[in-house]
Amino acid sequence: MKSQDYITLEEEYGAHNYHPLPVVLSRGKGPYVWDVEGKKYFDFLSAYSAVNQGHCHPKIVKALTDQAKQLCLTSRAFHNDCLGPYQEYVTRFFGYDKVLPMNSGAEAVETALKLARRWGYEKKSIPANEAMIICCEGNFHGRTITVISLSSDPGAYEGFGPFTPGFIRIPYNNVHALEKVLREYGPRIAAFLVEPIQGEAGVMVPDEGYIKKCYDLCKEHNVLFLADEVQTGIARTGKRICCDHEGVHPDILILGKAISGGVLPVSAVLSNDEIMLTIKPGEHGSTFGGFPLACRVAHAALKVVEEEKLAEKAAYLGEIVRNFLKSIPSDRIELVRGKGLLNAIVISPKNGVEAWDVCVALAKNGVLAKPTHRHIIRLAPPLVIKESQLMQALEIIRKTILSFDQ
Ligand SMILES: Cc1ncc(COP(=O)(O)O)c(C=O)c1O
Repeated sequence: MKSQDYITLEEEYGAHNYHPLPVVLSRGKGPYVWDVEGKKYFDFLSAYSAVNQGHCHPKIVKALTDQAKQLCLTSRAFHNDCLGPYQEYVTRFFGYDKVLPMNSGAEAVETALKLARRWGYEKKSIPANEAMIICCEGNFHGRTITVISLSSDPGAYEGFGPFTPGFIRIPYNNVHALEKVLREYGPRIAAFLVEPIQGEAGVMVPDEGYIKKCYDLCKEHNVLFLADEVQTGIARTGKRICCDHEGVHPDILILGKAISGGVLPVSAVLSNDEIMLTIKPGEHGSTFGGFPLACRVAHAALKVVEEEKLAEKAAYLGEIVRNFLKSIPSDRIELVRGKGLLNAIVISPKNGVEAWDVCVALAKNGVLAKPTHRHIIRLAPPLVIKESQLMQALEIIRKTILSFDQ
C-alpha cells in the first residue's frame, strides 16, 4: 500500500477530528521518522513534545518489552511490584511527597483540578461547591468537557456546552489581572492554573518573572499554584520543568507526554501530602493509571533524561536554533521565539502564504513540523538530536523559507 491508500482508509473509517499533513509514517529512530515509501524526515514536532527522548529509544523500548513479558495490567485493586519503585523515583526526581499516576494529559489536568477543589474545601474552608479556579486566555489543557470549559478557543468549545462552572479566565502574561481577581474573590479561589509557556497557543513565552510573580501572589492569597507542564516539562525548555527557570516549585505539577518518552500514554500529578492526601481511597482513579508497563517505561524514560543530560542539551541547542532562524534574511519571518528546544516561527501573513504552506514545503524537503494557528510553526525536535543533525535540519528550513521569496 502507498501513502495515499492509508490516507484514504483513515478518511473513510476514522473520525475527522484531525487535519494531518499528508505524510504516512511507519518507522522512527532518534530524531528521524520514515514514511511508507521509505523517505526519511527530521521530526520537528516530536508528537507535540512527547518524544523528547527520541523515537524508539532502546532503553525505554527494552523496559517496555521486558515488562510486557512479565505483567502488563493489574488495575489498582491489587499492588504490583513496579508502582512503588516508580513512585519513589518520580517524586524524588521532581521533589514532591506524592504522585498520582494517570494516562493522558487531559486526565492529569482533571485530576489536578479535583485536587485543588478538594484542598479548597478541606484546607481553605471554601464554602461547599463555591470553589473557583483561575485559568488563562489562550490556554490549552486538553479536550475533556471540564478542560474545554476553561478554553477561550471557540474551535475547542463551540457546540460542546453546557460547560463546567467555577472557572475565571484572565489574560495570560498579566500579573495585574491575577492580582485583581485574587483581591476580588481571594477567599473563594482554590487555585491558579497556568502553562509556563503556552505551547498550543503558538509557543507564547511570557515575560521574565511572570511565573514567579504569579506564584508569589498565590502564596499571598493562600491559593494553589498549578503548573501544566504536559508540553513544557521533561527537559523540553532547557530545565527539568519550565518553572525551574524562575525557581518556582508548583504546588501541583502536571506532567504527561514525554514522561514516557512517547512510548505509552502516561501522565502524573505531583504534590505534597497536604494536598494529595485530601483524596481518599475510592474517590479518584483510572483502570490503567500506574499500570506496571507505564511505571517501568516512565521510570526508564526519566532516567534517559538524566543520563543523556537532555535539559542541558535543549538549553544549548535552543540558543543555536533561535540565532540561526533569526539570521535567515526573509521577510516571511515575522518573529522567532521560544525557550530550549520549544520554538516557533511566526510567518508574516503577507502575500497569502500561511504556515500550512510552509509546513507542506518543509515536509517535501525532509523536515516535519506542524502549524499552530494560521501563521505559527512550532519547531520542537527530539532532544536527542545531535548538533550536526540539527544544523542539517536548520539548513533545510532556511532554504525552504527562502524559496517562498523567489
Ligand atoms: C499544556 C498541555 N496540557 C494538556 C494537554 C493534553 O494532553 P493529552 O493530549 O495527552 O490529553 C496538552 C496536549 O497538547 C498540552 O499541551
